[in-house]
Amino acid sequence: MDRAYVLPTYARSYINFVKGTGSTLYDESGRDYIDFAAGIAVNSVGHSNPKLTEAICEQAKKIIHISNLQVIEPQAKLAKKIVELSGYDMALFFGNSGAEANEGAIKIARKYGETRFEKKRYKVITLEHSFHGRTITTVKATGQENFHTPNFSPYPAGFSYEKSISDIYSAIDDETVAVLIELVQGEGGVEPFDKEEIQKLVAYLKEKDILLIVDEVQTGVYRTGEFLASNLYEIEPDIITLAKGLGGGVPIGAVMTSHKDIFAPGDHGSTFGGNYLSSAAGIAVLDILSEMYDTGRLHEVLIYFEEKLRGIVENYPTLFDKEVGLGLMRGLRAKDAKTVSDILERTMQEGVIVLKAGRNTVRFLPSLTITKDEIDEGFKRFEKALNSL
Ligand SMILES: Cc1ncc(COP(=O)(O)O)c(C=O)c1O
Repeated sequence: MDRAYVLPTYARSYINFVKGTGSTLYDESGRDYIDFAAGIAVNSVGHSNPKLTEAICEQAKKIIHISNLQVIEPQAKLAKKIVELSGYDMALFFGNSGAEANEGAIKIARKYGETRFEKKRYKVITLEHSFHGRTITTVKATGQENFHTPNFSPYPAGFSYEKSISDIYSAIDDETVAVLIELVQGEGGVEPFDKEEIQKLVAYLKEKDILLIVDEVQTGVYRTGEFLASNLYEIEPDIITLAKGLGGGVPIGAVMTSHKDIFAPGDHGSTFGGNYLSSAAGIAVLDILSEMYDTGRLHEVLIYFEEKLRGIVENYPTLFDKEVGLGLMRGLRAKDAKTVSDILERTMQEGVIVLKAGRNTVRFLPSLTITKDEIDEGFKRFEKALNSL
């Protein structure tokens, strides 16, 4: 049915998962798999989390959706919670995905460039290994050249790409309105940038009145150990985008900005964005994760996971050069691309789900609520897969 009726945009595996609990998934034959991928950083509180499930069910019994033309109480509560947890004086717009959040960010930057300066500014600088989404504009914002295929051209003007943070300075001209970066490049190979280098860039951009947009679609919502990677880097961006982990699997994305007066009614919109259901899910996710953070449990989990990865690098020096990443956004840098695809095939056979990322990286994005037992079992299976290569 999938092959007949669904457009083939994904190189899919045909394991049919029917149930999940915590970080364990079950296929239709009853076989279990340890989930180190969490739906690509989406299932932040695990599968069938009782608190999240209850919040979704309770909300669905009342109202799932009305339009954004009326006030949506849970949306306002979620926005307040995000602002408080971030520590930034910002306001939010809600959409449904990471790409939509980044589209919103680019619109904010474009309007800023149009309205705040005598001469229009519109150019956005991004980085070569970045990933920002799949809409025509966010594909163009993505700095990986293979995404700019002529199949979907022409693309919007005004995007350019730099190899590294230090190259951004000389790329800025009098039409540059914003710099868009991930603090840890996810799809590009789980690559964190140096904190001081980022802080230096932030100071320079502030001085030049150029906006800093931080794409926290993957790094946000405690993935790196702090609520936002921007908190970890101790910077104050102008615009931050969120999605993935925010709804725990219920689609929701958001763009937050300190330029609270930038949009007027009619400037932007989204039919589904921040509806009752997704906002209720977001509130439940943040309740669960902020408690884990406050009690120190999140920190324990990520230290435990990191130790396990370090052990793998020590035990398999012929396969891996080093471990990379922050918090529970982790990778093992393999010797070559073939090693990565062989590992992915073998790990699935052994019942543990991992991902790949750019720069020959085996990627780990487990639920933040993963237990020590699940981590132990997952790495046992992972090692078994490595031993069988
Ligand atoms: C950093 C980053 N930005 C944007 C996106 C796009 O998000 P979505 O697939 O929800 O549109 C992703 C998805 O992987 C991402 O990792």
